[in-house]
Amino acid sequence: MTTAVGTLYPEHSAIRDGRLSIGGCDAAELAQRYGTPLYAVAEDDLRARAREFTAAMPGEVVFASKAFPCTAVLRVFHEEGLSVDVASGGELALAQRAGFDGPRIILHGNAKSEAELRAATRAGARIVVDNFDELDKLERIEAPCEVMIRVTPGVVADTHAAILTGHAGSKFGFSLADAPRAIERLRASGWADLRGLHMHIGSQLFDLAPWRAAVEAIAGLGDFEAYDLGGGLAVAYTPDRRPPSVAEYVESMVATADEVLGPGRALSIEPGRALTATAGVTLYTVESVKDVPLKDGDIRFVAVDGGMSDNLRPMLYDAPYEADLIDRVGKAGTPCTVVGKHCESGDVLIRETTLPDPKPGEVLVTPVTGAYVYAMANNYNGVPRPPVVFCSGGRAREVVRRETFEDLYGRDV
Ligand code: LLP
Repeated sequence: MTTAVGTLYPEHSAIRDGRLSIGGCDAAELAQRYGTPLYAVAEDDLRARAREFTAAMPGEVVFASKAFPCTAVLRVFHEEGLSVDVASGGELALAQRAGFDGPRIILHGNAKSEAELRAATRAGARIVVDNFDELDKLERIEAPCEVMIRVTPGVVADTHAAILTGHAGSKFGFSLADAPRAIERLRASGWADLRGLHMHIGSQLFDLAPWRAAVEAIAGLGDFEAYDLGGGLAVAYTPDRRPPSVAEYVESMVATADEVLGPGRALSIEPGRALTATAGVTLYTVESVKDVPLKDGDIRFVAVDGGMSDNLRPMLYDAPYEADLIDRVGKAGTPCTVVGKHCESGDVLIRETTLPDPKPGEVLVTPVTGAYVYAMANNYNGVPRPPVVFCSGGRAREVVRRETFEDLYGRDV
């Protein structure tokens, strides 16, 4: 039986008699074999999402690697023919290790160092120029390269303020007023092959209208061969809010570009979250269950062996998640607050969910943790970061090992 919550699990997962398996691997066995916390990824979901995008998109699909900057994930998307967006020298190194090179790599960032720019030009990457100081650096380097200009279209989309990027006053890109000077300088340079304009208006966007407003805003800057419309398509973290499908989103982007910019442009989109989020789940072990009496009803805290070290999104963006016990998925329960093991009260993974009588030692799963979760993991409280395990066709393969205590002091000098 698939429950509403069941719809949040990877396409390549199953819930039989309430027991969860990911990519044919029993979740209880995964927890037993690799320990918890554990990031389990349905590898075939990564491929399926990549194919969904490439089938729908007549232009280029660029994986925003910040969503899941792990060599094995990058390798899958390299094999699937995607390009890659990197936002630092480190992400560039990961992308190269996964096999990407040349203009299939796109370098982003509002504070690129000269070293990062040199590394990118050596790799033959495309560079999305963000500001005049970066232009100065590129003029010093003078290496031939393909460039795009990032423009801030000045539109506001409906998402958390921390992940809104295309509004007037954003730290990213050239304002509509400054962009013409950047275009002029790049056109006059002997080294830059100016392909076109780039915009990225924000992340976790359900509404397609702001993209149209943004494309209309940048259309006045001239006629270019290429346009990169950025990423941003939302995913469902809870069963109550569904985003547009990949096909609906791509169709709308292409139609908008055709109408507003004219047909025949080389179009790129840069999905991150929509490629990886639903492929991943996190497994935790319940360490304690505490009922705290309050005047207006008890709170039941279900404390797990991870928390803000392995998933910062609830703390940074009030991001909602759901949880289940891996052998009673979708079963009705009582209200619980899922908290982590870290030394602060803000370490709340899920403010309110229902769980069917959780007990210490049981394994709890949070679905939709394949994007910006591994990416933002940290060692707060000396907690080693979890491993990443790919699951496909009933076979599990560890692609990133768990950190050890030795890793925690491994950089001491
Ligand atoms: N392109 C550019 C230039 C970006 O800055 C981003 C995301 C993307 C593409 C991909 O956007 P997506 O399709 O994933 O929405 N840590 C936050 C998300 C930050 C997104 C930053 N930029 C979170 O956990 O929600």
